[in-house]
Amino acid sequence: MTDQNKTSEKPWGGRFSEPTDAFVERFTASVGFDQRLYHHDITGSIAHATMLAKVGVLTGEERDQIIDGLNAVKADIEAGRFQWSVSLEDVHMNVEARLTDRIGITGKKLHTGRSRNDQVATDIRLYLRDEIDVIAEELVRLQQGLLDLAEREADTIMPGFTHLQTAQPVTFGHHLMAWFEMLMRDAERLQDCRKRVNVMPLGAAALAGTTYPIDRAFTAELLGFERPTENSLDSVSDRDFAIEFCSFAALLMTHLSRFSEELVLWTSAQFDFIDLPDRFCTGSSIMPQKKNPDVPELVRGKTGRVNGHLVSLLTLMKSQPLAYNKDNQEDKEPLFDTIDTIKGCLKAYADMVPAIRAKADSMREAAKRGFSTATDLADYLVKKGVPFRDAHEIVGKAVAFGVAERRDLADMTLAELQQFSDVIGPDVFDVLTLEGSVQARDHLGGTAPAQVRAAVQRARARLG
Ligand code: ARG
Repeated sequence: MTDQNKTSEKPWGGRFSEPTDAFVERFTASVGFDQRLYHHDITGSIAHATMLAKVGVLTGEERDQIIDGLNAVKADIEAGRFQWSVSLEDVHMNVEARLTDRIGITGKKLHTGRSRNDQVATDIRLYLRDEIDVIAEELVRLQQGLLDLAEREADTIMPGFTHLQTAQPVTFGHHLMAWFEMLMRDAERLQDCRKRVNVMPLGAAALAGTTYPIDRAFTAELLGFERPTENSLDSVSDRDFAIEFCSFAALLMTHLSRFSEELVLWTSAQFDFIDLPDRFCTGSSIMPQKKNPDVPELVRGKTGRVNGHLVSLLTLMKSQPLAYNKDNQEDKEPLFDTIDTIKGCLKAYADMVPAIRAKADSMREAAKRGFSTATDLADYLVKKGVPFRDAHEIVGKAVAFGVAERRDLADMTLAELQQFSDVIGPDVFDVLTLEGSVQARDHLGGTAPAQVRAAVQRARARLG
C-alpha cells in the first residue's frame, strides 16, 4: 500500500490548505479492510453509470468508456496489479482514482449524482446479499447431513436428559432432529433478514437526494434489488440490516455452541456416546492417549466473538444522529468477521456431522443405568387404574430399591416388582424395556423410531 500525502491526490482536497496529518490519514482510512468490497463497488458503479446514460447525464460513449475502465480496474485488482493507497482512504476512492488514471477525464464524471454515503450503503448490501446466499447453502448442507444421520440412527437408543441427569430414553435420531429444528429457524431468519438487505439506497446521495433526473427504479433493477429505499436520510444512515444479520449469526452460533458442548461431552470417556474421526481432532504434545474434540471446542469458543460483534454494532448505532456519520465506517470489521466466522463454523460442521459415529452399545448401557423407564412404569400403573400421584410414589420406592440393589427396573423379578403394587402383572416388562419406552411415544413430535423417520421425510420436503 502506498502512503502518499498530498492534498492534490484527495478527491475532496479543494478546500484544504494543508495535507492531512500522516497519523490521521492512517487512523481514518478504511481501505485496509473495505477493499474486500471492490467487486460490489464496481458492480454498483457500472449500474450507476448505465442509469446516468439512460437519463441523459452521461453520453453513451462516456458510459461505455467508464464501464470498460471499471472492468479493467477489476481485472487489475484480481491480477494483483493494484496498489491500494491509504491516502485515498477507502475502496471507493481507490477504485475511482484508478479509473481516472486509466480513462482520463471521463472517469471524473462517474461520481455525478451520488456520494460515498449512498455508495457504501449500497456496496455493503450487495456484498452481504451474496454472502447470505453462500451461507444459506452451507446451512442446508449441514441440515442434510443431520437428516441422513438422524435417519441412520432412528432406532438407536440413548438416555434423554433434563438437568443433565438421565430422564427418559430417546432415540439418537430424535435428538439429532432437535438440532435440525434449531437450524431450520436459523435458515428462516436468514431469509427474512435478506428481504431487508435487498433494498437499494443508491440515489440518496449524501443525505438529501440529488438534483439530477435519476431513475432509481432502473438502477435497482439492474442490481437485482427488490426496490429502492423510501427515504434518503434513512438510506445513508440505516445499518439495521447488518444488525439483523449479526443477530441471526449470534443465534446460529449459540446453536452450534450447544451442539458443540454435547459433542465434547459425548466424546469423553465418561459418556463415550460417539466417535469423531481423527481428521476432526488433535492430540496432546504430552499425553499420548489424548484425542481432543478441537473442532467443536473451537466453534463453541468462536460464539463469543460473534455475540460480541452484535453488541458492537448495536452500540455503534445507538447514539448516532441522522444522517451519515463517520462512525458507520466501524460497521465493516464486525460484519466481515461475523461472516468469515460463521462460514468457517458451518463448513466445519457440515463436513463433520456425516462422519459422527454413534456408539450404540454405550448409549444403551447409559440409558439402562439411570432408571430411564421409571415414568413408563408410572404410566403403566395409571393405565391399571392407580392415580398418577400414587403411581409416582410407588415407582419412587421401586427405584430406591433398585438403587440399593444396584439393579435397573427391567432387571427385577415380577415378584420383586409386585412388592410395590399388586396391580403389576407380567405385561409390565413390555413397558420397562428401552424399546418399549421409545416405541410408546408414537405421536407427532415424539421419540418413537417411526415418528423420527416421518419427521425426517417431512424435513426433507421442507428443505425443498
Ligand atoms: N469509508 C467510508 C465508510 O465506510 C465511506 C463513506 C465515507 N463518507 C464520508 N462522507 N466520509 O463509511
